[in-house]
Amino acid sequence: MAATRAAPAAERTDPAADAKAFRDYFVKKFPKAELDDFVNGPYSMNKDMRKQWEEMEQFPPYEFALDAGKEMFAKPFKNGKTYADCFENGGIGIRQNYPYFDEKESKVITLELALNRCREDNGEAPLSYTKDEMASLTAYMAYTSRGKPMDIKIPDDPRALAAYENGKRYFYTRRGQLNFSCASCHVQSPGEHLRAETLAPALGILNAMPIYRSQWGGMGTISRRFISCNSQTRAVPLEPQSEEYRDLEYFLSYVSNGLPIAGPGSRP
Ligand code: HEC
Repeated sequence: MAATRAAPAAERTDPAADAKAFRDYFVKKFPKAELDDFVNGPYSMNKDMRKQWEEMEQFPPYEFALDAGKEMFAKPFKNGKTYADCFENGGIGIRQNYPYFDEKESKVITLELALNRCREDNGEAPLSYTKDEMASLTAYMAYTSRGKPMDIKIPDDPRALAAYENGKRYFYTRRGQLNFSCASCHVQSPGEHLRAETLAPALGILNAMPIYRSQWGGMGTISRRFISCNSQTRAVPLEPQSEEYRDLEYFLSYVSNGLPIAGPGSRP
C-alpha cells in the first residue's frame, strides 16, 4: 500500500517549481527583455513597438474607462453601501491578490467574480463580464495596484492544488478546429506575428488586464480575452467565470507572481 500512496515525482504538483521554470523559459527566450517588462505584452520584446507604446501611454486610450471606473466605484448602491464595503482595504491596492482560493467555498474567486458578488449581495444586478462597465471597474482597481508585485497564494490544501492543476491543464490542452493550446501561441510563439498582431508572452500576461485594444475600439476584461482567444482557434468558448476559466486565471496569475501589476493596459 505504501508504495502506491507515494506519487511519482513527475505527478506531484509543485507550483513553485512550475513558476520558476516558467519564468526561466521566457527569460532565456528573450535575454534582452527586462523581467518586469514582460507585463507589457508584445511591447516587451521589440524596441520599435516599445516606442510606439510609450507614445500611446502619453495619452492613454484607457483614460476614459479609468475615470468611469473610479466614479462607478465610489457611487453608492441603492442600499447606501459601496464596493469599498466588500473588499479589504476598501478595494484599494488589492488587485495583486486576485484570484485567490477560497477554502470555505472550495473555489477560485477572481476579481471580476468578487465584484459581481458584491453587487448581488447588495441587491444590484450583476454586470456583464465582457462589457465596458466591468472593464472600467477592474481598470480602476488595477490602477490603484500599479507596480505592486502579483502575489497569488496557493494554500496548503489539496483542493487549491487541484484548482491550480486544472488551470494548468486547460492552458496546455489543445482544442478547437486548429488544435492549438493557449501555450501554442503564448509559450511557443511569443514575439511571432499572427496576421497584424504580435503574440504576447504568457509570463505576466494578465498583469496589465484589463486592456484597451484599438482593434476592439474599447476595453476588454480577462473574461473577454479568454473568450476571444478560444474563438480564434475555433474552439467553443466557455461561459465567463466558469470553473475552468477561473482556474486558468489562477494558474496564469500564480506563475506570474513577482511581476508588477500594470493594468489597465493598451494594445494596438
Ligand atoms: C492562435 C493563437 C492564440 C491562441 C491559441 C491563444 N491566443 Fe491569446 N492572444 C492571441 C493574440 C493574437 C492576441 C492579441 C495579441 C497579443 O496581445 O498577444 C492574444 C492576446 C491574449 C491576451 C492579452 C495579452 C496582452 O498583453 O494583450 C491574453 C491574456 C491571452 N491572449 C490569453 C490566452 C489564453 C488563456 C489562451 C488559451 C485559452 C489563448 N490566449 C490562446 C493569440 C492566441
